[in-house]
Amino acid sequence: MVYYVSYMKIKRRLSKNKKPRRSYKELKSTLSLERALLQNLLDNIPDAIYFKDTDNRIIRVNKFYAEGFKLSPEDIIGKTDFDFFPKDQAQRMFEDDTYVLKTGKPIIGKIERTLLPNGTYNCVTTTKIPIKNKEGKAIGTLGVTRDITAYDNTERTNLDMIINSLKVLDKILETKDPYTFGHTRRVSLIAERIAKELGWEENRVLELKMSAELHDIGKILIPLEILNKPGKLSDLEYKMVQEHVQQSYDMLIPYSFPSQLPEAIYQHHERLDGKGYPRGLVADKILPEAKILAICDVLEAMISHRPYRQALGMDVTLQELRDNAGNKYDKEVVDVVLRIINENNNKPFWLNS
Ligand SMILES: [Fe+2]
Ligand SMILES: [Fe+2]
Repeated sequence: MVYYVSYMKIKRRLSKNKKPRRSYKELKSTLSLERALLQNLLDNIPDAIYFKDTDNRIIRVNKFYAEGFKLSPEDIIGKTDFDFFPKDQAQRMFEDDTYVLKTGKPIIGKIERTLLPNGTYNCVTTTKIPIKNKEGKAIGTLGVTRDITAYDNTERTNLDMIINSLKVLDKILETKDPYTFGHTRRVSLIAERIAKELGWEENRVLELKMSAELHDIGKILIPLEILNKPGKLSDLEYKMVQEHVQQSYDMLIPYSFPSQLPEAIYQHHERLDGKGYPRGLVADKILPEAKILAICDVLEAMISHRPYRQALGMDVTLQELRDNAGNKYDKEVVDVVLRIINENNNKPFWLNS
């Protein structure tokens, strides 16, 4: 209360636009207030807060941080993350601290999984900011880490429910047309592997996988006699098959999917040279997701046996991709496919799992 009164006094003077004449007592009181506020924040906030020097040594932590390790703050001072975390995890933390110190730029809300002393993992979001001196030079870092495991678990449960619903739908559709829905599952496995090889982040890979699972959903509206016709399709029948792209898109668009998903599906028969369908889009108008789907689709279809032809075999399939890389198909993606298949002794890697 004493602090509060003094603080209000200073505030009133400032608001009257008078030059404040601060007595020693007032300054001391303001300083004590600042300290009390900071200490209050450090002691009560349910986030781990830590200050480090330029050698990444911990110089101060709050209660919450220390309690996480069942230590007192004094036991932690002077140590580094390598004293508390597994080596690879501590190395990542060290690299982030070094980045903040060197660039003077913060890292905001980085989501990561950390191993706890009891052997379980939690999910956290971490913000690290540089502490600078008067000259603007970084003299240490301040880190704040918040546990979001509960939120992450809820998100994962929701996602699992969606994926399982999709699997149930797949199973139902599979009874009608086993080839198409086996095909979409295999295309999904191929797409996932390619996206991971390209270094895509987790959510984008997941979205691509869902696009692959749903890319031919419109075929459900095409009579099986046409889809599985042993001989050559008439022009009209071929046109009906091509319609599946529009039908897939129309089925998905009323629902709230990630924005790229229906569009990527709509484009999965487009080719870089503009000779695909339904819109004849050229390279720079085709989404990266659709470029991957197109290659996975061709790869899986050519390797598979169909009622109207034998399986074409790996050599013929890879030759098709090689001959048309950069022309019909994205070259970077084709190169990834060729490398993975080569590493898998020229066998379809999607059949391994
Ligand atoms: Fe298709
Ligand atoms: Fe397909």
